[in-house]
Amino acid sequence: MTRRLPGGALERLAAAHETEVWPKRMAPPQDELLERAASAEGLLTMLTDRVDAELVAACPRLRAISNYAVGVDNVDLQEATARGIPVGNTPGVLTDSTADLAVALMLAAARRIVEGDDVVRRGEWRTWEPDFLLGHDLHGSTVGIVGYGRIGQAVERRVAGFGCSVLHTSRSGGVPLGELLERSDFVTLHVPLSDETRGLIGDEALGRMKPTAYLVNTARGPIVDPDALGQALRQGEIAGAALDVTDPEPLPADHPLLEAPKLAVVPHVGSATHATRELMADMAVDNLLAALAGGRMPNCANPEVYDRP
Ligand code: DGY
Repeated sequence: MTRRLPGGALERLAAAHETEVWPKRMAPPQDELLERAASAEGLLTMLTDRVDAELVAACPRLRAISNYAVGVDNVDLQEATARGIPVGNTPGVLTDSTADLAVALMLAAARRIVEGDDVVRRGEWRTWEPDFLLGHDLHGSTVGIVGYGRIGQAVERRVAGFGCSVLHTSRSGGVPLGELLERSDFVTLHVPLSDETRGLIGDEALGRMKPTAYLVNTARGPIVDPDALGQALRQGEIAGAALDVTDPEPLPADHPLLEAPKLAVVPHVGSATHATRELMADMAVDNLLAALAGGRMPNCANPEVYDRP
């Protein structure tokens, strides 16, 4: 296990198997991970661990990988599948927390919450002013949801309560991305990171958004090109952006993107509530326990592994 987890789930694992938990705040360096994982039959990994072909090959006894996230873009799924190793993930339990944060970021961006807090702390709140810190309304706006899976649909349910109209893209329907970008007041991203979605929101996409529109990303950082976003914000091509995920991650404090105006960034906390992180831990441990007992993982990102002869 590459990190301690909230709640009591790891104790359940330790009761059934010999376990080793990386005890530090920072992820294990890759060479350390390679060395320590070499004799493992199961790995419980974080989205910050690179579970690549080299790591999988370095663990000849490996029978299960359980990733403590719904996203598995840090795992070489193809390699794991080729070696017959199931990869577990944690869908569902973080849907509502992540959707809550997406809406919080829409409001933070459009109602300038972070800037307002900063103004107060800097002693610049001099009086009530008719045109001070004006933003845009979420209520009654058009929200464009890019990716209509569990989290995208949970965002839709929430913004319905704000009287918003919703557009969405999805593999099986919705509107084309270009149309969504042109018509939306808020564009919120809920697609997994893949070869198709890397850099999806770059110069061209940002150029199609309204100058009064906001971009929110709670999915994966590399879906948005950070240089293109910085430029769009500086040139006023869009009204603002709020990001929970960035490229790179963590975003260094001196990264040029942070010089851009009208930008709020939080450190990948979409699922970061006590309850959700404990449920994720339970799910990740259940996946590992099932696979190590020779059964099927309840939540498996490469179920085709079970169809192999
Ligand atoms: C995930 O699960 O993929 C999130 O990004 C972290 O909770």
